[in-house]
Amino acid sequence: MRLLFVCLGNICRSPAAESVLREMLDREGLAANIQVDSAGTTGYHIGSEPDPRTCRALQARGYHQWSKARLVEAQDFLDFDLILAMDRHNMRELGRLCPKPELMDKVKLACTFCSRHSLTEVPDPYYGNKEDFALVIDLAEDFSQNIVQAIKEKRLGA
Ligand code: 4NP
Repeated sequence: MRLLFVCLGNICRSPAAESVLREMLDREGLAANIQVDSAGTTGYHIGSEPDPRTCRALQARGYHQWSKARLVEAQDFLDFDLILAMDRHNMRELGRLCPKPELMDKVKLACTFCSRHSLTEVPDPYYGNKEDFALVIDLAEDFSQNIVQAIKEKRLGA
């Protein structure tokens, strides 16, 4: 199974989600079966490491791996089974980038997997403070735990 997290710049929210889910899958021995990646709907930060505030927030919770920013490509809609957007603006942008309308069935809001938080979107922390970056990790831990559980119970994935 292949899962792609998407946000605007791919330097704050989606790389954090990728890092958290990867680590949880690793701990459960499921990393070999599930491919996790992240991408952005804008290209301003292509090739960049995540924002240093994201790296600090991840490290504070014991997550030490992350990837460099890349742009969402049309091929991603074919390659990935599930595409999880951080907010509704990202969803609309994905609709613009999607090569075939039916492939939008693969796109959902990541927070649909949240159980401990009632937020339906992951707020953009870019102009925020340390707490805003910590909230991104809180939400990523919430939805990633439930994604892992769904994979274990075979409600998600091949
Ligand atoms: P992200 O956050 O979409 O979670 O990576 C942002 C990153 C960069 C910008 C905005 C949001 N920006 O305006 O450059």
